Amino acid sequence: MARVFSGIQPTGDLHLGNYLGALRRFAAEEQSPDAVFCIVDLHALTVPQDPAALRARTLQTANLYLASGLDPDVCTLFVQSHVPEHTELAWLMECTASVGELRRMTQFKEKSASAEFVSGGLFTYPALMAADILLYDTERVPVGDDQRQHLELARDLAIRFNGRYGDTFVVPEAAIPTVAARVMDLQNPTAKMSKSVDSPQGTVLMLDDPDTIARKIRRAVTDTGTDVRYDPDTKPGVSNLLAILSAVTGTPPGELAGRYQQYGPLKADTADAVVEVLRPVQARYRELEADPDATLAVLEKGAARARETASVTLARAHGAVGLLPRSR
Ligand code: TYM
Repeated sequence: MARVFSGIQPTGDLHLGNYLGALRRFAAEEQSPDAVFCIVDLHALTVPQDPAALRARTLQTANLYLASGLDPDVCTLFVQSHVPEHTELAWLMECTASVGELRRMTQFKEKSASAEFVSGGLFTYPALMAADILLYDTERVPVGDDQRQHLELARDLAIRFNGRYGDTFVVPEAAIPTVAARVMDLQNPTAKMSKSVDSPQGTVLMLDDPDTIARKIRRAVTDTGTDVRYDPDTKPGVSNLLAILSAVTGTPPGELAGRYQQYGPLKADTADAVVEVLRPVQARYRELEADPDATLAVLEKGAARARETASVTLARAHGAVGLLPRSR
């Protein structure tokens, strides 16, 4: 099996995009003893956070990983701040990245344009993300399409570092799904569904109750005309519903489109399918939520296991750039 790493920020409530673009694939396709999954709490700090809410969301995100089917006896699940090698390698990555390439990151441009306060951390965020990935000799990074540019940068930094200091890092590849790589907002289908955008009616949360999920999908903005076609450019609303239904059922979106003459039945079937796919996840989440100590124990064990690999890679990188070894 390839070595896999991926991460999710504990900011906002996780939504259907996080589930279809990431979580569901982790459990279904990526689990193995070589797979490492992380709750990236330090990335969350790049924008101001309420401490109590951050604590609660970190645990909630861990429980959603587990509820989605991740088995901590098979793979590794941990919290980024519990493994200090992440911030240590991030410094080397910041010193490898140029200001110009960090400035070109679309997410930085978007987030900094709308923020009153832009932290230094928001700017260097992709260097920390590269460190996350490179610490585990990662070959495959399953993510949604919005992380494509950050992954390209992680590859560029690995290649540059290896070129300067000799072979140190494995150069990772992004694994982006063919459908539902970018689940769109139901009220604004030309923008991605997002934790950080305030669009409650356009965002299906993983923990929304079935009635709320069905209502949001039934009220999704659809396109002018009445024909059901999969064409994200000219029919973004309908295509988004087809992509969601396709991700859940496994039937290609073009084939699904041929089964519908009207929007109503497509919405009804999509709502039913999403409710059913989330039902067992929500039930398992309620069980996990009732026993936070069990989840904390999983995270503690995960961090210890993650450090075994991370400390070796960090020592290799420190040695490569010329830092003296800490112990002989
Ligand atoms: P985050 O927390 O924004 O998102 C977590 C995962 O969900 C995917 N995703 C989506 N997929 C489809 N449709 C959407 N609308 C949608 N919105 C989000 C994301 O692509 C991601 O896979 N920077 C990362 C976290 C991170 C990371 C890493 C990921 C930090 N270090 C190392 C991979 C490897 C982020 O903010 O994801």
